[in-house]
Amino acid sequence: MIRSVITGCAGHLPDRVLTNADLAAMVDTSDEWIVARTGIRQRHIAAEGETTSDLAVQAATKAMEAAGVGADDIDLIVVATATPDNTFPATATTVQSRLGVRKGAAFDIQAVCSGFIYGLATVDNFLKAGQFDRALLIGAETFSRILDWEDRTTCVLFGDGAGAVVVEGQETAGGNDAPGVLTTHIHADGRHHDLLYVDGGPSKTQTVGHLRMSGKEVFKHAVTNLSAVINEALDATGLQADDIDWVVPHQANKRILDGTARKFGLDPDKVVVTVDRHGNTSAASVPLALAHAIGDGRIKKGDLLLLEAMGGGFTWGSSLVRW
Ligand code: COA
Repeated sequence: MIRSVITGCAGHLPDRVLTNADLAAMVDTSDEWIVARTGIRQRHIAAEGETTSDLAVQAATKAMEAAGVGADDIDLIVVATATPDNTFPATATTVQSRLGVRKGAAFDIQAVCSGFIYGLATVDNFLKAGQFDRALLIGAETFSRILDWEDRTTCVLFGDGAGAVVVEGQETAGGNDAPGVLTTHIHADGRHHDLLYVDGGPSKTQTVGHLRMSGKEVFKHAVTNLSAVINEALDATGLQADDIDWVVPHQANKRILDGTARKFGLDPDKVVVTVDRHGNTSAASVPLALAHAIGDGRIKKGDLLLLEAMGGGFTWGSSLVRW
């Protein structure tokens, strides 16, 4: 059977770092409040003129190097983003052009913070069906461009960045021990639009708009939905929470990460945490965290990874991956 195997992964962050102290000089907040409520200490912010596709191309180039593949080897590019360069064309087509990829398909996925998991589910199904051979899946965001920098309840939470993986269809024996994506699960419930949204858009306002969020409500839904979709992945594979070597979660808030790990009796040391340094980078956060834990040697061949995320819509999802 064909399984989707991740053969390269890398992240890219803009140079500029914005600390909690910097934010305290801009809005009525403090390092103590931000760290206690979110675990965030700093985030990276794109330079003027630096776009989502700039970050995406950097991450993709490094991921392709890690996988040992060139532009001719890629036949599908999916960019998960809620902050595209333009309303259209898809940022994925800009990335395709800049990487020199000349075949196959390229499109964006919009599932906000769940974008990478939605993208992985999409790519996995295309590869398993044999419709494409090798995909580049990128989560890339410049959320700094859609923040209301006078709203202390949201502007302290987010950052910019990109993460990319190369995923290829490989013949495997199947089963839970063979490398690759074991299972993916994605969900949406559009009734919660007003709890997390952007108050602009081409059709409604002809503006880009700013992010608006009811943080407390989102928090409650996040823990419930993430627990359900993690259980779904375990049930689908017959694996137990104990079998998980590393949780690579969407990085929205350290308290959500801790709460979810506690619910499954998981050792907090098994949870990859980057939210302290990156803030919430939306669709980029899972591949950035993955790249981080591969880079520092924590994730080793044969490890079982749980990827999970929840975002505006609401959307949410999970995946189990044998490394
Ligand atoms: N600095 C200082 N005070 C702040 C603040 C800030 N940056 N932001 C809000 N406050 C204040 C509020 O105004 C409120 O004051 P009040 O009690 O006088 O009205 C107080 O802090 C508590 O606010 P509240 O919103 O109840 O805090 P909270 O404990 O729910 O934490 C979040 C707020 C946003 C950190 C938290 O709700 C959260 O993380 N939610 C999930 C968000 C998320 O993950 N979103 C992305 C999903 S993809």
